[in-house]
Amino acid sequence: MKPGKVDFTAIPDDGVTWTLLGTLYLRAYESHLPRPILGDHYAVGAVERIEYDFDKLKRRVKPSANQFLVALRAVQLDDWSRAFLEREPEAVVVHLGCGLDSRMLRLDPRGARRWFDVDRPHVIDLRRQIYPEQGDYTMIGTSVTDEGWLADLPADRPALIVAEGLFPYLAETEIRRLLRRLTDHFPSGELLFDGVAPWMVRVSKPFVWSTRDGQDIERMNPRLTLAEQVPITAHRDRIPTRGYRACYGFLNTIPAMRNSSVDYRFTF
Ligand SMILES: C[S@@+](CC[C@H](N)C(=O)[O-])C[C@H]1O[C@@H](n2cnc3c(N)ncnc32)[C@H](O)[C@@H]1O
Repeated sequence: MKPGKVDFTAIPDDGVTWTLLGTLYLRAYESHLPRPILGDHYAVGAVERIEYDFDKLKRRVKPSANQFLVALRAVQLDDWSRAFLEREPEAVVVHLGCGLDSRMLRLDPRGARRWFDVDRPHVIDLRRQIYPEQGDYTMIGTSVTDEGWLADLPADRPALIVAEGLFPYLAETEIRRLLRRLTDHFPSGELLFDGVAPWMVRVSKPFVWSTRDGQDIERMNPRLTLAEQVPITAHRDRIPTRGYRACYGFLNTIPAMRNSSVDYRFTF
């Protein structure tokens, strides 16, 4: 990680960009637990580097409760990623809407594989101040919905495509076109992402896209085959705090809550 402070206050207040600090902060917070689920110590280092009113952010993201949501989601996507990369050592990784997430350090600490982290240009400008671009690791500053950025990526190998906390912020037509471009570009691979239920879009303002289940995505792009869909409460046994474990157990009995956030794995 690079030294020196990073000023986050210059970031445009577009209603979405601050969310990357929310998830980063929650991962850092969770790593302080005696037995963390994810234990992302890189997130701690990144938070320490950023000039921001984290007390205000803390009131907004309510870390005691929400740290588990973010850690369970990240660990599921990390576990699926690791399994795929073990099966496909030559695969490239395309991490969409990466924000300030340290997934490349968690999964490929020596920068040994072709790995592309993609987010909007102002986010990538910040990211470059925190994480070095080394080895075969590349950052791309673009909207994922722009055409063209995929053209420079290798098209002759399988791809692991990960989009965490991204699709709910995009319009359905944007997601459809993006998925089409990805499955047209790469010969095969896996797509991992999380989606929210329709009622979440009604109550959470920045969200615009929801999905009822994985078959919606297969209909959207017939090249994608649903392999697994895992509700956020599925791995509640990993929660180290008895009270929150019981709370997630209760939420798991209510279908609307269980399916409020679901992790998806597709093959193509
Ligand atoms: C909730 S944050 C998640 C960040 C990161 N994946 C994580 O888990 O910490 C949403 C991210 O999506 C990015 N994003 C939203 N719309 C985007 C777009 N059209 N193109 C690229 N990135 C986008 C935001 O800049 C932000 O980094």
